[in-house]
Amino acid sequence: MTGIERVTAAFRDRFGADPEGVWAAPGRANVIGEHTDYNGGFVLPVALPHTTRAAIGRRGDGRLALASLQHPDEDAELGLADLRPGTPPGWGGYVAGVVAELRDAVASDGGLSVVVDGDVPAGAGLSSSAALSCSVALGLRDLIRPELSREQLVDIARRAENDYVGAPTGILDQSAALLCRAGSALFLDTRDRSSEQVPFDLAAAGLALLVIDTGTTHSHADGGYGDRRKECEQAAQRLGVELLREVPDVAALVPLDDGTPEGRVFLRRARHVVTEDARVLRVVATLRESADPRAIGPILTAGHESLRDDFEISTPLLDATVEAALDAGAHGARMVGGGFGGSVIALADDDATDRIEAAVAARFAAGGDGPPRTFRAVPSDGARRLA
Ligand code: GLA
Repeated sequence: MTGIERVTAAFRDRFGADPEGVWAAPGRANVIGEHTDYNGGFVLPVALPHTTRAAIGRRGDGRLALASLQHPDEDAELGLADLRPGTPPGWGGYVAGVVAELRDAVASDGGLSVVVDGDVPAGAGLSSSAALSCSVALGLRDLIRPELSREQLVDIARRAENDYVGAPTGILDQSAALLCRAGSALFLDTRDRSSEQVPFDLAAAGLALLVIDTGTTHSHADGGYGDRRKECEQAAQRLGVELLREVPDVAALVPLDDGTPEGRVFLRRARHVVTEDARVLRVVATLRESADPRAIGPILTAGHESLRDDFEISTPLLDATVEAALDAGAHGARMVGGGFGGSVIALADDDATDRIEAAVAARFAAGGDGPPRTFRAVPSDGARRLA
């Protein structure tokens, strides 16, 4: 059974009719540019082959009915007038948040039924939540608001996560899910929203981008992610700029170190952001100028060290995974996503991937950690209509 058939059959079972369409949106791996998006900086994600599929149909009773094949005990149904941030809790909030953004248009059409299915690993730093919100956003665009651009959908999905679910993310994940193209990485300036597709043909260079999901999950709605965001805002304020993106170089960060422990924290956080923006530009320049993408490897590893030492969002298991991949011959490796768990990416020669997988698995076993899940991030297309 294909993915389309599976979600269509589930929709029919649940609602007794065919959906009006099926839409898919992918997870992402960010090549470089971590925690830069809410600082107005640069990012360079690729879309994964893994997607969330949403089967959607309109209904006449003014209600929103939701079901997920991944959460069979968490069906939800509520009146459109009862949509409130946080309702329903869990996965359904990401869908309800998008519907709430378009509530007037949805209401004049009577209501919605949605069934979702997908294979983007959840909580793995691979943006399963944006895959969910963006698959639904594209579906609603096609059904009821055809004039909306993909850029507008990025904002709708981001507001759904920020304001409805309460996860204070930037626009990296939603942009990757909606704007990426197969065979390319998306070079996005999150301040002016200009973007460019940078060719990233790993197979032609005999390379693979491995994703190693450590199986340790993170949650954005609570804890460290929001703290880091606030620290960046405070650092920017102390430097008299609106966004850390505006800081020209690390020398300009010196005033942050006022001799207090707090000042040194601001310095480290801001230094990560400023050096990470520079790393994105170096990776893009290298990909444009060099026939050999291996040259970006050390820049990725430097990105990990900065996330570990300056931004302090890595974990011992993420660090051990990066080390094991490098020891086994990866050209570069780094944690991806919001941090505090999740996945590592490793750039490796095609014929070294088995050795790297084995080395990482052995490191996990030695530390008593469950086996990691590893797959290749083949740069894929962003959100699309499937049926
Ligand atoms: C999460 C957020 C993104 C971005 C990354 C870190 O994935 O959703 O907006 O901030 O973390 O780069």
